[in-house]
Amino acid sequence: MQLYDDLTPWYRLVDPPGDHAEEAATYESGFVRAASGDAHALLELGAGAGHNAVHLKRRFRCTLSDLSPAMLALSRELNPECEHVAGDMRTLRLGRTFDAVLVHDAIVYMTSETDLRAAIETAFVHTRPGGAALFAPDFVRERFRAGTALIEGEAGDRALRCIEWCWDPDPADCTYRAEYAFLLREGNEVRSIHDRHLEGLFPRATWIALLEATGYRVELIARPIDEEGGTDEVFLCRRP
Ligand SMILES: C[S@@+](CC[C@H](N)C(=O)[O-])C[C@H]1O[C@@H](n2cnc3c(N)ncnc32)[C@H](O)[C@@H]1O
Repeated sequence: MQLYDDLTPWYRLVDPPGDHAEEAATYESGFVRAASGDAHALLELGAGAGHNAVHLKRRFRCTLSDLSPAMLALSRELNPECEHVAGDMRTLRLGRTFDAVLVHDAIVYMTSETDLRAAIETAFVHTRPGGAALFAPDFVRERFRAGTALIEGEAGDRALRCIEWCWDPDPADCTYRAEYAFLLREGNEVRSIHDRHLEGLFPRATWIALLEATGYRVELIARPIDEEGGTDEVFLCRRP
């Protein structure tokens, strides 16, 4: 996926850190409510450019992991005080536990139940007893709607326009496609790139079954998704 590789110099125009403030506040209050005792140490799996962490680090001591060295480098720039670790969320083992574990939109790259189970297991072994974890997929199967979004960003002599088109070639399987059509302008030069992402799409019941089978107690909480007061749902979990 070029967005997490050679396109990372454009990433902050695609997804500005300020846009994450409201949802990060939802995650923070969920963790504080769900974890028993004090919650200080937070691990994020698939933390990307650190655009949730930039808000969460005011409350938590954050350890940020990701598969992509380029995305980790972006996050280091924004969050130099946080610990950064390279790793795959299916296999990462740090040998320590945290009060809170966040798996945000990176969880969509788990495109089979086997991978999703492995990522949940990674979160579980890093959650202390009494701690909390939060899983925030872009969609559960029941909420998926095909659609397009226009993304626009400018900084200095760079400007970006992007159409994000989500569609589902086979509603019977557990994936959909997010197609990104980028127009990237530097000075007077414009180039185009098509970046295709295969993303996981699981029914709510599958999520709950996998989370409970791993050992979590699960609650669905609302998260804000737009400026008109719209919400969707994310999975707030407690490790007994
Ligand atoms: C949309 S970005 C995450 C952005 C992040 N939510 C933020 O706040 O900046 C998705 C991230 O998932 C990461 N990723 C994809 N597959 C992964 C895996 N198996 N393990 C860890 N990270 C993965 C990508 O490298 C990318 O940085």
